[in-house]
Amino acid sequence: GRVLYITRHGESMYNLENRIGGNPSLSNRGQQYAQKLGQYVNKNLKFDKVWTSELSRTLETSAHIKDIEKKRIMKPELNEIMSGIFDDLSYEEFKDQSPIEYKERELNKLTYRYPEGESYLDVCSRIEPVMSEMDTGENLLVICHQAVIRCILARLQRTPAIEIPYIKVPLHSLLKITYLNGQNTVEVIPLNV
Ligand code: G3H
Repeated sequence: GRVLYITRHGESMYNLENRIGGNPSLSNRGQQYAQKLGQYVNKNLKFDKVWTSELSRTLETSAHIKDIEKKRIMKPELNEIMSGIFDDLSYEEFKDQSPIEYKERELNKLTYRYPEGESYLDVCSRIEPVMSEMDTGENLLVICHQAVIRCILARLQRTPAIEIPYIKVPLHSLLKITYLNGQNTVEVIPLNV
């Protein structure tokens, strides 16, 4: 079957601070992942294209892949879920400032739309155009974000919609997806940073 590789960006400063959205850079550990990913890819895999989002943390994660400037395509469709008026807040601050909104999201994480931002369902529709583009037969690595990867995996594995916001996507791991006539499998390759 054909194969697709996906990874989250390396750990960001906001991952460390438990903050939502924004455009943070990688932490030291995140930079170590970028190096390790580069080494692993350069040694074991041959990608024609590397897709990233438009955000710094995915670009920084791609930096050590050989010939990256020639292979990289930035896709706005792959940007993280837009957290609107709560962008840059910590989950703690979000909860303190807007307990009702926070509760609403807890109760209805799939359909909850951040004010001036997006819901998981919005992200799932926003990635639709690139989903078909992913299936073009090129050797492709996609570097993006947890919420977006949840939508991509759900689409490839036919996960019930209600489970999408809770799919576990580990940091610092490469996901290898093998398309097998309708039954896609996901293998996790931890790079242990
Ligand atoms: O920063 C956003 C995360 O990738 C998704 O977080 O579980 O709150 O949707 P969430």
